[in-house]
Amino acid sequence: MSDMLRLDRFMAECGVGSRKQAVSIIKAGRVSVDGNIVKEPGLKISDGSTVLLDGTALKHEKFSYYMLNKPMGCVSAVKDNLSDTVLEYLKGVHARGLFPVGRLDKDTEGFLLITNDGELCHALISPGRHVEKTYYVISDKRLPRNARFLFKKGIDIGDESLCLPAHLKAIGPVKEGMSYELTLTEGRFHQVKRMFYALGCKVLYLKRVSIGGVMLDPGLDTGAFRALTTEELDILKNGTSEVKP
Ligand code: URA
Repeated sequence: MSDMLRLDRFMAECGVGSRKQAVSIIKAGRVSVDGNIVKEPGLKISDGSTVLLDGTALKHEKFSYYMLNKPMGCVSAVKDNLSDTVLEYLKGVHARGLFPVGRLDKDTEGFLLITNDGELCHALISPGRHVEKTYYVISDKRLPRNARFLFKKGIDIGDESLCLPAHLKAIGPVKEGMSYELTLTEGRFHQVKRMFYALGCKVLYLKRVSIGGVMLDPGLDTGAFRALTTEELDILKNGTSEVKP
């Protein structure tokens, strides 16, 4: 915690509840700061303060990290005048300054990391880092026979440079067409859709299933979220990998 924080906000950011809930908990005399019961929600808390709720210490993490299983129909933005944003799905979360790491299209589902840690965001999306992102794709038909080779070589989607090598795995036929898993190490605009389009196919359904070696939790319903585990955060912070050409 860098600045002095009001006690009610500090508690909300520790996950106790909303600011309003924190205020009533404080007024009920359940909170002590450095050994003294405090009933003033506006009291300023500093880095070294010990805050106990019903005798248990509250831990204030500097940053928050959430895995959202993004549903279709919402935009990967903090604010939007027309559509729901992904932040609207983080019900009951009171951390400040949250934003989505990178973008998924409005009609794309799956793993979206939401945090207020700008440094991690930069590490995950900066082009030089080549963090792997894997997508489950349903296309209207089967890709050409040599598609795996073409993805590995680098697809031309009409940009100045070819796409970086990508790894394609055919999963099997589904009722709408054919399903694949595609792993990329960059994030160009509509990249998966444009790569399939370059090979004559249309993406009908797209879902991101992993980022940097961390899988989307299969137990998370569409639209649900949870905090990242310490292990997941460690993988994102310390383990990046590249698709071998
Ligand atoms: N590629 C796309 O085409 N869309 C996404 O949302 C993500 C990757």
